[in-house]
Amino acid sequence: MPLVPMRQVLEEAAKGGYGVGAFNVNNMEQIQAIVEAAKETRSPVIIQASRGALQYSRMIYLRNLIMAAVEEAPEIPIVMHLDHGNNLKTCKEAIALGFTSVMIDASLTENGQEVASYNYNVATTRSVVEYAHSLGVSVEAELGALGGIEDGHGANLRGDEHLTDPNQVEDFYKKTGCDALAVAIGTSHGAYKTLRYDKDHNPLPPALALDRIEEIHKRVPELPLVMHGSSSVPPELVEIVNKYGGAMKGTMGIPMEDIQFGIQRGVRKINVDTDGRIAFTGAIRKVLWESPEKFDPRDYLKPAREALKELIKSKMIAFGQAGHAGDYQPITLEDAKKLWYS
Ligand code: G3H
Ligand code: 13P
Ligand code: ZN
Repeated sequence: MPLVPMRQVLEEAAKGGYGVGAFNVNNMEQIQAIVEAAKETRSPVIIQASRGALQYSRMIYLRNLIMAAVEEAPEIPIVMHLDHGNNLKTCKEAIALGFTSVMIDASLTENGQEVASYNYNVATTRSVVEYAHSLGVSVEAELGALGGIEDGHGANLRGDEHLTDPNQVEDFYKKTGCDALAVAIGTSHGAYKTLRYDKDHNPLPPALALDRIEEIHKRVPELPLVMHGSSSVPPELVEIVNKYGGAMKGTMGIPMEDIQFGIQRGVRKINVDTDGRIAFTGAIRKVLWESPEKFDPRDYLKPAREALKELIKSKMIAFGQAGHAGDYQPITLEDAKKLWYS
């Protein structure tokens, strides 16, 4: 099965009433873990690379590793997606590399640190949509801005003034023609998402404006919604990191029930990076802590890949994408162009 356009994967997910995990990658082991998880659970999957990931891997390596996964797993629909593209140029570069989907995040300015105006967001998104659709490539946009600055994709926002305004959604969709919309409902990137603690200073899950998902979905039922910052930061994974010499602070992520609430109301793409990083790092720490004499990278990368695969399998089952890999025949970008964009 070749790479597929994201729009097809999300439309099929809407028909089936499930969500599809979009997992971030930087290296071979992460890609292998995701594809093995997809094969074992028979799941369609979105593999995504941030600008940082493309820079780290010098672009061509990551692209070719993902293409190797596609070759190895012909029975799995795989989307190769750019996460948080910051301008038309970055999106064009990804498309030239063969990405079948791009995100243009123009809710923020190009440096990813300041909130952009609505008009800037519409105009920038529209320019990417025009270019991408002329080649059959899908486009995810973002309306409202996510909090969090740990990874450079956020403006350190707190409070609800930058959450997605349901009143803007129809206008934004009409003017941009995007294929999927990332909504800001109080999630943020990274491990430290919450500002809420109980009286004993134990972290509580972040407060989310879940009602907005429902409201937005009612306004644009045909538009697949995307939840960024969806790591659950499981305490048992944080505990492994800390048990073997790590120093992560007490934290809580997004409960799976909240994600499933979203999936029942139009969320079709769920972005997860941090949980994978924690699982991967915990497994490496364990080997190096217990066997300090080891120095062959395979001794710790193999268990790291295995830990990541197990984590992703459990998410694929919880999001509902498991078992759906064979539901449809993949279309090409050429088909996508004719079917949706001409
Ligand atoms: O959206 C953020 C992702 O976790 C990617 O993070 O820019 O550190 O690769 P990164
Ligand atoms: P997490 O940091 O919660 O994993 O979110 C990742 C993300 O949204 C990537 O775009
Ligand atoms: Zn994100």
